[in-house]
Amino acid sequence: MSLSPLIWVLHGPNLNRLGAREPEIYGATTLEQINQMVASRAKALGMDADCFQSNHEGALIERVHQATSASVKFMVINPAGLTHTSVALRDAMASVAIPFVEVHLSNVHRREPFRHHSYFSDLAEAVICGLGPQGYLAAIEFAAQRIPQHRG
Ligand code: DQA
Repeated sequence: MSLSPLIWVLHGPNLNRLGAREPEIYGATTLEQINQMVASRAKALGMDADCFQSNHEGALIERVHQATSASVKFMVINPAGLTHTSVALRDAMASVAIPFVEVHLSNVHRREPFRHHSYFSDLAEAVICGLGPQGYLAAIEFAAQRIPQHRG
């Protein structure tokens, strides 16, 4: 029996505060709840999902670098505030050349102008924003379709 394809879900700074953080924007769901939803949807589709959150740009970059040796097939990333600032994390994503979907809980395009630019979107297979936690599940469903030789 072949191993289930591995997906990594990366969460950027301050997303550990979901549930408590600006609930009128980000909702009441905690990161732990999102990670549980992601893991169970991935499992139902015959994949394994590992979730990682850090408030440190360098830790996220190191994690991305490890994706190749971990044989990660697909990534889902919410770079959070780093979306709008981090050339370095963007370069890390480009360096591993693993297809990914960029997810944002909020609709960044109806928020402040500084949130309208992303350093990731032109590298991403797709960008999902404004669906709340559902966006992560949509990304997982997409990954199941997108991974070669995987029928989900
Ligand atoms: C976010 C949107 C970003 O602009 C913000 O800095 C975040 C979260 C979102 O999920 O809506 O931290 O990525």
